[in-house]
Amino acid sequence: MNTLIIEHDIQEVVQHAIEKHGKTPDALIPILSEVNHVLGYIPAEAMREVKKQVHNSAEGLFVAESQLYGIASFYDMLSTQPRGRHVIKFCENAPCHVVGGKAIWDTLRENLGLENGETTPDNKWTLVTTSCIGLCSVGPVLLVDDDMYGNVTTDQIPEILGRYE
Ligand code: FES
Repeated sequence: MNTLIIEHDIQEVVQHAIEKHGKTPDALIPILSEVNHVLGYIPAEAMREVKKQVHNSAEGLFVAESQLYGIASFYDMLSTQPRGRHVIKFCENAPCHVVGGKAIWDTLRENLGLENGETTPDNKWTLVTTSCIGLCSVGPVLLVDDDMYGNVTTDQIPEILGRYE
């Protein structure tokens, strides 16, 4: 089991997020974001807890688990699978693609031995694609955790990866 989860009681994490953000439809994304932030991802047990705890008869709020999974799959920052210590998000949209994005993506996959959405066995890296992050003028673009890299070339990939322990 993921060490972050061992350190946290899922029920308490969800309860804290709901107390902070409230029980309204608008609160669902912040609640899931917070759970994702604390646990590193949103495990199935946390989804069940959110569904259970967010139920609010006064506001008439009832959320199906499928709705929560729908939100989690829509937002790149949310994940229902454990992720590595470092997450690489590669922009896959056309403006980045036409300036060499495909070669960058292939180099990342080769260097890491990963396909989209996978994590290395040592839990160091997770590789995912993302939609446009608004930096098209400096494409191809990738993010490593919160670090942004623009105008990336294939030669730079090993050096960029080498910056992370
Ligand atoms: S298309 Fe890649 S950042 Fe906009």
